[in-house]
Amino acid sequence: MTAIALTDSEVTLFFRGLERSVGVHLDLSKRDLLNARLEPVSNRLGYSSVDTLVRALNQMDLLETRQQAYAALTTNETMFFRDPELFELLKNRLLPALIKRRADSRRIRIWSAAASTGQEVYSLAMLIRLHFPDLKNWELEIRGSDVSHSVIQTARAGIFNDREASRGLPLIYFNTFFTKADCGRHKLSDEIRNMVTFDRFNLMSDRFSNRRYDLILMRNVLIYFSLKNKITVLEKASQALADADSALLLGGAESVNGNPRFVMNRDPRWHFYTKKREG
Ligand SMILES: C[S@@+](CC[C@H](N)C(=O)[O-])C[C@H]1O[C@@H](n2cnc3c(N)ncnc32)[C@H](O)[C@@H]1O
Repeated sequence: MTAIALTDSEVTLFFRGLERSVGVHLDLSKRDLLNARLEPVSNRLGYSSVDTLVRALNQMDLLETRQQAYAALTTNETMFFRDPELFELLKNRLLPALIKRRADSRRIRIWSAAASTGQEVYSLAMLIRLHFPDLKNWELEIRGSDVSHSVIQTARAGIFNDREASRGLPLIYFNTFFTKADCGRHKLSDEIRNMVTFDRFNLMSDRFSNRRYDLILMRNVLIYFSLKNKITVLEKASQALADADSALLLGGAESVNGNPRFVMNRDPRWHFYTKKREG
């Protein structure tokens, strides 16, 4: 027996829950996306159709199932050194300035707050190891977090297939930091994997700790959020930056939407945000 198709109000109810919980905003024009992304989840979990799955989630408090369904509706697209201009900016300007500022404490904290399968975090770790080897003796924290359990698991493993390992990754990094893994895949060295940590963190609902970061990468995630949710998350991000020289790095198509707590800094090829100085 086929289930009765979801009504617009059932889809809207489901999308509202998604937005409240994860921040991602979808409207009725995204019904096809809903079907395409939830079909594998509904098959995996033994539901007879996407409609049955969505209806169950609208009516019941199924935490695990909900997490899997919501995770399937987020976009995890990423690659090594995505936006090479940004990594040039980090190498030539942001990291050298940060190292100078932290010469006394010898402590640097970096957070990639929508890390997906880890390429962004590992790009940073490899760049630091190759170009700033002296930081080996510093207290260097590179944290990657994401709302999705499954991408965090992939990130932790640090193993990438041919396609992933060749997308965006300059040969020098591939040759220096990867070894052969099974099934023709490529594994990052322990040296690089040990430089980073990953955890599950929902930018919408998890409490930001008192930890303060010198650099926060929040890239290609807010673009999926409604303005209201973007404003809420940016407010928390501004508080998580260590000081007025600490930087927030967004994706190429993202901005702080005029949030007065941030100042836009221009580099010839990329822009980034710092915290407005008090007083
Ligand atoms: C398009 S990927 C971006 C990955 C990487 N930052 C980059 O730019 O290549 C967006 C990631 O944001 C995550 N995400 C979506 N909503 C989130 C939330 N509320 N909290 C944390 N991560 C979230 C998704 O799971 C996805 O992995």
